[in-house]
Amino acid sequence: MSWLNSVIAAFIPYLPKWFARPFAKPYVAGETIDSTLEIVRELNNNGYSTTLDILGEFVHSKEEATKVKDAYIEVIQKIADENLDSTISVKLTHLGLEIDMQLGEDNILTLAHEGNKNGVGITIDMENSTYTSQTFDIYKKASSIYDGMGTVIQAYLFRSLNDIKKLNSPLLNLRICKGIYNESPEIAIHDHNSINDNYVEMAKSLLNGDGYACLATHDLTLIDRLELLIESENIQSDRFEFQVLYGVPMGNRLEKLKAKGYKVRVYVPYGKDWFEYSVRRLKENPKIISYVLGNFFKR
Ligand code: FDA
Repeated sequence: MSWLNSVIAAFIPYLPKWFARPFAKPYVAGETIDSTLEIVRELNNNGYSTTLDILGEFVHSKEEATKVKDAYIEVIQKIADENLDSTISVKLTHLGLEIDMQLGEDNILTLAHEGNKNGVGITIDMENSTYTSQTFDIYKKASSIYDGMGTVIQAYLFRSLNDIKKLNSPLLNLRICKGIYNESPEIAIHDHNSINDNYVEMAKSLLNGDGYACLATHDLTLIDRLELLIESENIQSDRFEFQVLYGVPMGNRLEKLKAKGYKVRVYVPYGKDWFEYSVRRLKENPKIISYVLGNFFKR
């Protein structure tokens, strides 16, 4: 069945959107902020924190970047008005970084200002390795001015363990993920077990330093190792949280983490650019196709 899933995943980008929609549905919370906030409220009521992401990346003009910035300001205000337990997650290329670094920086500083004013945290997602250093530079600048800033580090990059040591500070808020982009073997680890080993080393370094760790993964074996690390090093639960993407099946593992008193945050993507995001998710895990098809035909 796995070869069939891979074939379907390869064809989905060329199929009409109405066909792809059922596959996308589990991963995308909605097309509008108002429908998405219903899901955020429900997650909050069930004890989950959230982070809201407006789908998209690589805008082509300053006007587009400004629209994205304004849309995020609206999200920040809605989170604050309803006192929701949510941060926002932002990609710098969505705010214009690719057009002009200064534009990306100015836009994130405006969001940092709004977030700070409204008590809403902001995480700068990490994109491909072209942007790694620029992202850290912009994060350092924004977090030196405003509270509540965080960013992301990828366990598949050779440089990352060293980056954690360089970034260490009591203000550091860092999401560790494996990394989603196709990077060359010169700069990135490709072996699954070695990425997991590096992830654990990075988590150890971050937790033994002064910062806050956001442990983002659906890999149950890796979560086992992270829990062991937390317990053996006696790390207080206000020093870290677990994070997952909306819609990825986790069995009862998240409930178990919450029962231990650990914070769990769900990354909730929404917006009209759901198609491109979903194609990426399906290519990453073609297994999900049989799962979605199963549910689809049961209805
Ligand atoms: P792994 O890929 O080994 O997956 C473990 C298991 O989880 C798989 O066997 C599969 O069953 C399941 N699974 C994983 N992903 C799934 C999916 N999408 N759908 C269905 N099942 C899935 N990356 C990045 O480069 N920059 C970033 O800023 C972020 N941000 C981010 C935030 C959060 C909250 C998460 C959870 C992840 C990211 N990522 C990311 C993505 C991350 O780098 C990585 O690609 C995915 O999380 C998959 O890696 P896992 O750690 O889940 O392990």
